[in-house]
Order: sequence, then structure tokens, then C-alpha cells
Amino acid sequence: MDLGIAGRKAIVCASSRGLGRACAMALAQAGCEVVVNGRDKARLEATAAEIGAATGAKVTAVAADVGSADGQAALFAACPEPDILVNNNGGPPFRDFRELNRQQMLDGVVANMVVAIELIQKAIDPMVRRRFGRIVNITSGSVRMPLAGLDLSSGARAGLTAFLAGVARSVAASNVTVNFLLPGTFDTDRLRSNIEANAKRKGTSIDQARAERAATVPAKRFGEPEEFGHACAFLCSAQAGYITGQNLLIDGGVFPGTM
Ligand SMILES: NC(=O)c1ccc[n+]([C@@H]2O[C@H](COP(=O)([O-])OP(=O)(O)OC[C@H]3O[C@@H](n4cnc5c(N)ncnc54)[C@H](OP(=O)(O)O)[C@@H]3O)[C@@H](O)[C@H]2O)c1
Repeated sequence: MDLGIAGRKAIVCASSRGLGRACAMALAQAGCEVVVNGRDKARLEATAAEIGAATGAKVTAVAADVGSADGQAALFAACPEPDILVNNNGGPPFRDFRELNRQQMLDGVVANMVVAIELIQKAIDPMVRRRFGRIVNITSGSVRMPLAGLDLSSGARAGLTAFLAGVARSVAASNVTVNFLLPGTFDTDRLRSNIEANAKRKGTSIDQARAERAATVPAKRFGEPEEFGHACAFLCSAQAGYITGQNLLIDGGVFPGTM
């Protein structure tokens, strides 16, 4: 399917690995020029080279903390007027909510809510002027269904979702869309390190911990990051202009509700 976005410019935050990387790859495959981002410069440059080699797209690496003012300035220096913005950031560690102090809570809200809003503030008006914009926010299935130990992440991401619900409607007439992708259990470094920590805690092997976790998913497997990336590229497509303010859960059937 031709997504109708060849030549569009995209900033994909936190994209040297995992879900962000998969979104950048899928957008590059669709013909976009892509800015990729991460803090580890060597890892990021390797990713940029891999995406460029695989797709022939122009890929620019911006090594920076997406949460910092300097990092955000560097992203917009590399791509002053993106047509597409994919918001992503690292997630907080698992922690019982009783252990969180005020600063940790504020940091979590900044990382998983405020940073995305700041980036949208910078990107949205030129999108409105050009009458094309696609904003995709990577949040989490935990916005729909609680996950023990991730309450801070869930709350911050639900806050982002509610905050942007009104923003999405305010720009819809200008062909600017704002949507959310809610990952369930995807096979990324983050998931692998969670599984390793669980295996260590329970005294089981990593293979056994992986199998037990996968067995909790109706699809009986983890999601492949590529599957997530293609969903992102579709939400960024020309054809998806009538889809806005929506939360797309991609979880292999874990969420048990009918709607
Ligand atoms: N994987 C899942 O199943 C799943 C499920 C629900 C929610 N999520 C959420 O989805 C997001 C992506 O998850 P993932 O599994 O793809 O994680 P991942 O494999 O750990 O990759 C995270 C990426 O973000 C970059 N990053 C982290 N902090 C950054 C920062 N401050 N500035 C710039 N780049 C940063 C990392 O690069 P550097 O470390 O080099 O900066 C890396 O490229 C996270 O917020 C996670 O909580 C994931």
C-alpha cells in the first residue's frame, strides 16, 4: 500500500532501539526523511545507518535527551518543520507507588506527559499552516488496563491522552491528526530486561520466564516491533486523515473488554 507520505519529514523521538526504531524504519520505508534520536550516540548512529541502508531514505541522527531543552532544540534544528512527529521516551522502572517520592513522581509526569506536549507545541502550528500533520504518541496498554508497579507511567500517559483529546479536535479541520499507540508486550530491550529481572527474582531461567509471560497473551507470543512500526506508519499516512484522537491498543488480545 502506498501511504502517500513519500518526501514527508518525520521526527521520531527515542528511536535508536525498540518501538521508536521500528516506527522510524516503517516511515523511512514509506519514503519519509527521518530524524532518529537517542542518548547513546554510537547506538543511534548505527541505527541511522541501518535504516538508511535498508530504505535509501535520508536519515539524520540527533543524539540527545528528548526531555531536555537542548535536546528538543537539537531535534528541531535538524528538522524545523516536521510533517510527522512520533513522541516516545523511556519508561520509568517498576516500583510500588508507596516508594515514590514527590520528585520521582514529578520526573515521571515530565517524561511521559510534559515532554510530548512541549514537542507538540513546537511542531503543530506549521503543520496547521501547511494543512498536513500527523502526531503519534507512543503510550502504553496500561492506559486502558493497570499494570502493577507502573502506576506512575500509567497516570502520566493517561494524563497525556486526556490533555491531547482537546488539542486533537482543535486542529482536525487542518488535516492535522493526533493519535495514540498503546503497546502491550513487545519484544524489545525493555521487555527483555524486565523478563530477566523477573527471572532473577523468582529464581527461574530466562527462557521459562519468557514462556510464562508469553502464555498470558491470547496471541501466545510477544509483538514484533515491526508490527508496531507499520501501525504507526499507517496512522501517519495520507489515508488516515480522518482518524484522530484515537487510542489504538496493540496487545495480542490482552485487554479483555469488548470495546
Ligand atoms: N516494549 C513494550 O512492550 C512496551 C509496552 C508498554 C509500553 N512501552 C513503552 O514504550 C516506550 C518504548 O519502549 P521500548 O520497549 O521500545 O523501549 P527500549 O527498547 O528500552 O527503547 C527505548 C528507546 O528510547 C531511547 N531513549 C530512552 N530515554 C531517552 C531519552 N531521555 N532521550 C532520548 N532517547 C531516549 C533509547 O535510547 P537511549 O537509551 O540510547 O537514549 C531507546 O532508543 C517506553 O516508554 C515504554 O515504557 C513499551
